[in-house]
Amino acid sequence: MKIPHRMWVLPTLLCVSLLAAVVGFAQSSEQEDGVKPRGEPFKPQRDTTPTPPEPEGDATRNIPGFPKEAEVCAECHDLQGEGRPGLAPRIAGLPVDYFRQQVHGFQAGKRKNTTMHALSEEVTDEVLDKIATYFSSRPLPKITPILRGTQAVISDPVEKLAYQGDWSREIPACVTCHGASGIGVGNIPPLAGQHAVYLKAQLQDWKKGGRTTDQDQVMQKIASQLSDEEIEALANYFNQLGKPGGQ
Ligand code: HEC
Ligand code: HEC
Repeated sequence: MKIPHRMWVLPTLLCVSLLAAVVGFAQSSEQEDGVKPRGEPFKPQRDTTPTPPEPEGDATRNIPGFPKEAEVCAECHDLQGEGRPGLAPRIAGLPVDYFRQQVHGFQAGKRKNTTMHALSEEVTDEVLDKIATYFSSRPLPKITPILRGTQAVISDPVEKLAYQGDWSREIPACVTCHGASGIGVGNIPPLAGQHAVYLKAQLQDWKKGGRTTDQDQVMQKIASQLSDEEIEALANYFNQLGKPGGQ
């Protein structure tokens, strides 16, 4: 005799759900009183805790010559000295003497920055030498030098300032001191690839008299002749020159 389909489906379902309920109850009561059945094999739980970030020390060990004293600086300026726009400037590839002079400048209040003033006071000259040597050895951004100074007519007003200056206001071309495309020369810092927000802030600081680290007020005289719009445009111009794939 054939049992009709619906006649065994219902009881089977009831049995299954009853069994599930009993097993579920048994499990939850085990969890509640915290007693694990004896002899049950250990079942590893999926670990949901996030992997902690690699300790700073491990990352720095991969960079040859990284002095441990530079770890505090790297928090803002990055392990490679790339800095972060709005937080801290690029310090990779700065001339060693210029680097030292600037830290001394913060110590002496010739540059006004509360954070750098406090930090610079903690650094001895011996430690500063180590840190400056390390960051100076870090690579500058890739720059293809543009020799527009040789061009007679430059139509773009910003490029004109950068490559020819403006003698009516006694502004020499930026590249005469900062090198072709602002690559940096001798003890004069590079401008190419530096964060625009930082370049702008420095020119404004000179204009307002907040930075007095420059010998013979060379930059102070130049910045005071520049309009706010020119400062902004020059900062953006030199910043993009150092970007990968920049002109
Ligand atoms: C909390 C973030 C922070 C830390 C940490 C820090 N700096 Fe700076 N640093 C700055 C900022 C911001 C400036 C730009 C200040 C200004 O506007 O004049 C700066 C500027 C500099 C400059 C000038 C760069 C230039 O192109 O003239 C040097 C050099 C420098 N820092 C070195 C150091 C050293 C060395 C340390 C470690 C002892 C350090 N910094 C730690 C934020 C930081
Ligand atoms: C006569 C040489 C000379 C000329 C021309 C010149 N600079 Fe400078 N510049 C310097 C020197 C020297 C310094 C370093 C000053 C110091 O020690 O603080 C400097 C520093 C700077 C800095 C600060 C960089 C940093 O890392 O903090 C900026 C920005 C700058 N110059 C922009 C310009 C611009 C833009 C022009 C063109 C309009 C220009 N400079 C033309 C000599 C010059």
